Parts: sequence; structure tokens; C-alpha cells
Amino acid sequence: MPARPFKAGESCILYDHRGRQHLLSLDPDKLFHYDRGAIPHAAIIGVPDGSTVTSTKDSKAVVMRPRLADYVLKMKRGAAVMYPKDSGALITWADIEPGSRVLEAGTGSGALTLALSRAVGTDGLVVTVERRHDHQTHAKRIVAGFRGTMPDNIDFRVGDVEDVVADVEPDRVVLDLPEPWSVVVPAAMHLAGGGVFASYLPTVPQVQRLRDAMDHTGTFIEVDTFEILMRSWNVSGRSVRPEHRMVGHTGFITVGRRRL
Ligand SMILES: C[S@@+](CC[C@H](N)C(=O)[O-])C[C@H]1O[C@@H](n2cnc3c(N)ncnc32)[C@H](O)[C@@H]1O
Repeated sequence: MPARPFKAGESCILYDHRGRQHLLSLDPDKLFHYDRGAIPHAAIIGVPDGSTVTSTKDSKAVVMRPRLADYVLKMKRGAAVMYPKDSGALITWADIEPGSRVLEAGTGSGALTLALSRAVGTDGLVVTVERRHDHQTHAKRIVAGFRGTMPDNIDFRVGDVEDVVADVEPDRVVLDLPEPWSVVVPAAMHLAGGGVFASYLPTVPQVQRLRDAMDHTGTFIEVDTFEILMRSWNVSGRSVRPEHRMVGHTGFITVGRRRL
């Protein structure tokens, strides 16, 4: 399939002569300035993904559509985002598939919302709930700015997630918020049978409190808590070894299934 040309409003990663990455939101009236001159966004809009463009100082740069992981790691964040290593695992273990009806909270910066929207596809739905208006506004901008349009399988709501579980009747509940235990009882009552409850938490005491709350309902089985460690490698000539630095800790993922 031929590469699709860039359009105004979507994001683009510009790789400069040194391979540095710059995330742009394409606007025909803007110029990207750097140490090798400037590149008008208009020179990128209309060219296919993977093209080479030239700056005013005759330096070459490559432009590509960001992968979702690139976008999440480079975008302007409001609330802390879920790292791609974690959202990938969470989507797998919560078994989110095309057609799933997912209740997500909090929306935060919208990073996980974007990943969920892709996973559920055009036949699925992500209802994403955020208690802070400012976070929701920011997240909407982030989500729409990725490919330049708002996916139509996302229902953004402002409020407390514990109040909407009954209304949504989800088949998956995915939580990235500090007090997920307050959602356990509504999820135990209104999550579809066989459905998955998934939570992402940074600390051990939070995980213990969540697990106690899940046990207390007597409703969840196959409950599991795990973390994902990702170690990148340097591969350069004979220097083939792990990178010196890695992200040491992000969060723990807990999943469990509802029995009827
Ligand atoms: C860590 S952020 C979520 C980040 C998000 N997963 C992402 O990848 O961008 C947590 C968010 O949950 C929201 N929040 C906390 N408790 C909530 C609740 N009970 N209902 C809805 N939103 C809640 C907070 O306002 C905050 O924006």
C-alpha cells in the first residue's frame, strides 16, 4: 500500500541530520526552527510518510508518522502517562479485542485511551472517565492530535468512574487512578460475566489494598499482579550489551475476571 501523505492537524516526527527526533503538530502556517535553519510545515503536508525534506540551510531531515509509542513518550503530558511497555501488556492481559466495550478511568493525558481505542477497533467502544475538566480537555487535544482526527469509538465523560459503571455495563474495566478499590464493588456488580477488571498502580500498599478489596467481594478469580521490565540493548559493532540506563519502575498491573 502506498504511504499516505501527511495532512494538516496530524502529528509528524522529524528526524534531523543527527537522528534527533522532533514531534510536530502540522500547521500550514508554522515553521519548524532548529540549528540547521527552518522547515515550513507546508513542505511536509502533502508528502508521503517516510519522505525526506530540506531545510532553509540545505540540511536533510526525514519525516514519519509517529508510532503510538513514540507519540506517548514525546507528547506534552498533563497527568503522568502509562508507558507503552505497560499499556501493551495491560491490553493483552485484560484481553481487549476488536468489539470490546471498555470502561477506562482516569483519562489523564489520554495515552492509554489512544491505545484502547486502537485495540477495540471500529466495532468497539471506550468510555473514558476523568474527574478533572482540565485533564479531559488536555486529553482530547492529545487524542485528536495523534492522527489529526478524533476517533469515533471514544466516549469522553467527566465525573467519578465509580458512578458510571452501572450505566456503561462494560465487559472490561481498566483503571489508572490512585484508589481503584472504590471501583471494585460496582465492577463486581456490573462488569459482564467473564469480563476483566484491570488496574495499574505504582506502589505495593495500593496493590495490597486493591487485592484485599477484590478478595472481599468473592467475585473475582484468576487474579494476578505483575510488573513489566523492559531493558533496551546497545548494538553497535562489537559493543553488544544492555544499555547503561533503564526505567527501573513504573507500576504494577493487577487483573482479575468476574464470575457470575
Ligand atoms: C495517572 S492519571 C491517568 C493517566 C492515563 N492512564 C494516561 O495514560 O494518560 C490518573 C487520572 O485519574 C483521575 N482520577 C482519579 N480518581 C478518579 C476517579 N475516581 N474517577 C475518574 N478519574 C479519576 C485523575 O484526575 C488523573 O487525571
